[in-house]
Amino acid sequence: MNPEELIARAVQVRENACANYSHYKVGAALLTPGGKIYTGCNIENATYGLTVCAERVALWKALSEGERKFTQIAIVTSGESPASPCGACRQLLWEYCGDIEVILANLQGFRKTLRLSEIFPRPFDQSFL
Ligand code: THU
Repeated sequence: MNPEELIARAVQVRENACANYSHYKVGAALLTPGGKIYTGCNIENATYGLTVCAERVALWKALSEGERKFTQIAIVTSGESPASPCGACRQLLWEYCGDIEVILANLQGFRKTLRLSEIFPRPFDQSFL
């Protein structure tokens, strides 16, 4: 799939972000090997701490639909520096997606594709248990 297609879906879902506190909207689009796309946006709330990132919303949607394999995730924000997944999301992406491609993008046309292992070195995972 052309990464621009995945990015376009992340741009679209970003509009649904519930970001009333930070005003920082994020969209994510997660791709399966079969070409299905699961999207997510960040969802905040008045306690702040219960906020869920866009990446995890996309992942939860996909896992709960029975998907278990993923190839790419696109993450879109506005602003000069595109968002980079937080530590919690990196851990969960590693657990459920393995070393997928992470496409960081912004609304202004910036694109950077990395492997998850590049931004999440020496992860703790089931291999230690
Ligand atoms: N956020 C995401 O959804 N994904 C990221 O990769 C970085 C941060 C959200 C969480 C919160 O709603 C807002 O951005 C500000 O931290």
